Amino acid sequence: MAALAVLCPLLVLALQGSGLWTAALQSPSLVIRVYPAANGVSAAAGVCAGTSPPSFSAGDVRRALFESANPKGSTAGATFSRCSSNRTRITAATSLVAEPVYLFCSGANDDQQWNIDGCSFEHFLGIAAAADAALTARGLTLSRFRHRVYLLPPSDACRGFVGLAQIGCLDAFDCRAWIGPNYWATPQSYVHELSHHLYLAHAGKYVDNGQGGRAFDQYADDTCYMGFCCADRCPNTPHAWQLGWISVQQLEGGLARGQALPVALPSQSLTAAGAGLRVLPAWSPGAPPLFVGYRTRHRGDAALDPSLASKVHVYSANITNQYDSVQTTWQAALEAGGSWEQPGSGLVVRATSTGPRAASVTVCRRGGMQETAASCLNELDWDCNGLAGAADPACLPLLPKRTTRRLAAHETAPSVQHSWE
Ligand SMILES: *[C@@H]1O[C@H](CO)[C@@H](O)[C@H](O)[C@H]1NC(C)=O
Ligand SMILES: *[C@@H]1O[C@H](CO)[C@@H](O)[C@H](O)[C@H]1NC(C)=O
Ligand SMILES: [Zn+2]
Repeated sequence: MAALAVLCPLLVLALQGSGLWTAALQSPSLVIRVYPAANGVSAAAGVCAGTSPPSFSAGDVRRALFESANPKGSTAGATFSRCSSNRTRITAATSLVAEPVYLFCSGANDDQQWNIDGCSFEHFLGIAAAADAALTARGLTLSRFRHRVYLLPPSDACRGFVGLAQIGCLDAFDCRAWIGPNYWATPQSYVHELSHHLYLAHAGKYVDNGQGGRAFDQYADDTCYMGFCCADRCPNTPHAWQLGWISVQQLEGGLARGQALPVALPSQSLTAAGAGLRVLPAWSPGAPPLFVGYRTRHRGDAALDPSLASKVHVYSANITNQYDSVQTTWQAALEAGGSWEQPGSGLVVRATSTGPRAASVTVCRRGGMQETAASCLNELDWDCNGLAGAADPACLPLLPKRTTRRLAAHETAPSVQHSWE
């Protein structure tokens, strides 16, 4: 699960207003199973010290990858096609699970010394190059396969290892990923590592550090497969947007103090268009953009943890384009009536309703800690508690007793906001 530092230079595209681009994984991928073999030819003559023969078959791997091999079960292919509305796919038609490659116990290539039971990036690079050479010798045209996943053999050193991948893929580089010996048949291990190829970084949140403080755990966002392995679920809202799988409604700066803007959020699990909200609190320099999304137990999210389903999730994420490999930070899960305020910017996200297929929220920019006579008269939600004017009990002592007349249109928000700015 550990991601490498970025190995490829990043290409930066101009930000598209709609944020809708399409991540390509349709391009062929190749899964390579590496077997340790003391004679380098087959496992029959005995395996290398510290290793054992793999416990999964090629069939197990295909059933973890391809919908066609496992139509009713959990597969990496199903997660990609269901979470992306078929924008990104991995299929048996474009991918190959190669016959096993039997490697010597150690070797050297391109100045790289490797051991078959070595469990670090240097060894993985050497093993991958040795496996590529063996496949090329077999007549396979490797350049046909853009994404290559190397399945590491069981070894004492690599027992708990889940996977590793390059972040991002450009033409000049092979796109390599490695899966640990116990995860060959785990769909989400492939989804996670291949999504690193698509430039995704991890999905984390702040957790209790056990000493009364908080620490960022880069894997702790359970609403995203870029968090901990291995439950089936889709990406979180910022990552789905980064992949081009959903478009988001954009609010870049245009929120006046005390203004509460209602936004309808279709379930991101069901709908791709406008299924999230991205808010750039431009009035608060340094505040990261917020993403708001709603998830229900449908399609790729059918197995989403019930504690996370039918909730509005709020994230901060400084992602600006498809190639921006930056971590996302889960901030809050809101039920109807719940709210969360971004520290510093006074931006308040409030869930007003949550339904089987959609939710509604308001985003409000706090003008101050309390309502004022002016904010009450002008029906602003100065304290962003979800209520404005006479509907807010905090306004009752502040409003004129006799007249409940609303100010004329030309006297409302803009002019008042200006004088209070
Ligand atoms: C995706 O493609 C499958 C067939 O391959 C189809 O059954 C499904 O309805 C498609 N999903 C969407 C959202 O288009
Ligand atoms: C977000 O990214 C921009 C550009 O990379 C950077 O200038 C800014 O400091 C970042 N903001 C946060 C809150 O990380
Ligand atoms: Zn990872």
